[in-house]
Amino acid sequence: MPRITLVFLLCVSLLPAHAQQVNKAKQGKSLTPKRGQTDAHGHQWWQHAVFYEVYPRSFADGNDDGVGDLKGITSKLGYLRDLGVDAIWITPCFPSPQVDFGYDVSDFENIDPQYGTLADFDRMVQEGRKQNVEIILDFVMNDTSDKHKWFIESKSSRHNPKRDWYVWRDGHGREQPPNNWTSLFGHSAWKWDDATKQFYYHTFYPEQPDLNWRNPAVKQAMFDVTRFWYKRGVAGFRLDAVDNLFEDPELKDNPNQAEKYQYGDPEQDRIHNSNLPEVHVVLKELRKVADESHAVLIGETWTADVAALKAYYGEHDNELQLPMDFLFTQVNKLSPAEFRKQMAGVIDSGGWPVYLLSNHDIPRAYSRYGDGSHNDAIAKLTAALYLTLPGTPIMYYGEEIGMANSEPKRIEDVKDPIGKLGWPKEKGRDGERTPMQWNDSPNAGFSAAAPWLPVSPSYKTHNVATEQQDPDSILNFYRSVLKLRHEDAAMLEGKYVALNEKDNNVLSYLRVDGDRAILVALNMTGEAQKPAFDLSSQGFADAQPKVLLTTMKSGPGSLDSLSLEPFSVYIAEVKK
Ligand code: NOJ
Repeated sequence: MPRITLVFLLCVSLLPAHAQQVNKAKQGKSLTPKRGQTDAHGHQWWQHAVFYEVYPRSFADGNDDGVGDLKGITSKLGYLRDLGVDAIWITPCFPSPQVDFGYDVSDFENIDPQYGTLADFDRMVQEGRKQNVEIILDFVMNDTSDKHKWFIESKSSRHNPKRDWYVWRDGHGREQPPNNWTSLFGHSAWKWDDATKQFYYHTFYPEQPDLNWRNPAVKQAMFDVTRFWYKRGVAGFRLDAVDNLFEDPELKDNPNQAEKYQYGDPEQDRIHNSNLPEVHVVLKELRKVADESHAVLIGETWTADVAALKAYYGEHDNELQLPMDFLFTQVNKLSPAEFRKQMAGVIDSGGWPVYLLSNHDIPRAYSRYGDGSHNDAIAKLTAALYLTLPGTPIMYYGEEIGMANSEPKRIEDVKDPIGKLGWPKEKGRDGERTPMQWNDSPNAGFSAAAPWLPVSPSYKTHNVATEQQDPDSILNFYRSVLKLRHEDAAMLEGKYVALNEKDNNVLSYLRVDGDRAILVALNMTGEAQKPAFDLSSQGFADAQPKVLLTTMKSGPGSLDSLSLEPFSVYIAEVKK
């Protein structure tokens, strides 16, 4: 077939006007089905919803004590709706000694007083209903706080009925733990209990003893926790640390690797305490409970490859609906080839992809991808990437305004215990958890009191209020791309077709939906690029593109003279 070049007919002078028009637009009628319903393609609400992670300590402070809370979150649901968010995942807001900032849960069925009360939670759910924003909670399945009443009982004696709710073992004497397993947060994964003369197992901090998922009573109690929240209106859970639920009952040593990791212990191949097949049995059962409430299960699924990720969907889509693709976050440079490879792997595997750029454990995308001089343009570029792919995106709070990572400069300022332990190699995760930047007033409008972590200095320029006024801001770009995503069927349903697969500078693809498609072209370099497109094999040979959204300052011209500005985004519609 002859190579037929597609001609871009868009008039240069029309372009800026068009881009502005898109920016000013409000979120309109969304194609995302309501919870419990499906769309014409049989897709469920969570397949077309945009999820947004809220770190409650840092999002909005409703009572001005320097720590964010549920009232604060409730007051911002309208903002999130206008942005184009359909569901928020709130990281743990349950009672907790806060050793791991809420991931050490001491009561699964209540709200920590610093975040509010169950009544505040119910009000948040009601307001969410008004704003069409679903609430997803974090389910910390693997462990509890050592202050949880279950562990206090378990620890009280070897004969307590809750003893077997945790993983207790004899060691080889007081100083010699049962095996060589190390905690993911450093040093031995076993802690000696002098009163009962045994060790207990902890994947993370010693203050987070692992539950024994081999005990049916534990399973039942934990499943009931999810029912408690479903009854209160929760639309699903993000499952914490799922790969760690089971350990080899014979406690075989893990092989040590030659390298040491940031806490000084040798790296281990965690073959005997991670990703055991029993995990999938539990997830299937948990899914049945979720299905009773049309709920969604999102997985914190760190995997070595796509095959392991695929396993989390279950053989018959009967495990997690949304296992997160962390392999995508590990493409840490603007490399079209690497993104293409990663996307193709996940899409070809047949699972429904789940993309994210950063979260409360992963340094912010703005700083990871930024080159120091085009950071705002790059923030729009990465937004255009993960928000125009097939699948479900999970945004991280502040990503939409280009919040930068803001790491502590001195060990005395570090709040995250792994930063204290691993300093300076591991500075901890404070940098990605700083307060949301609402405006340019002191404390960035987050709180009237000094915030628990200092606000990032970037709040003067990168904040919601300032960016709302600027049609060219990162925030308005996010709004535009999210609007397109909600309203354009090709963006939601269109088949992903990679284009120009040898191009190492421009990442481009189509989202084909019947006789129309959306062309996405992302210039991942600091130089102008002139890609050439041949859409004849997709049947769009004679199509004339109409720009839907672009960050180009000047018009792209026709295909022959198409020049994509450095780090620019070009999204256009083509029809047969
Ligand atoms: C995974 C959470 O995302 C992380 O923040 C936490 O520290 C670990 N689980 C351990 O609780």
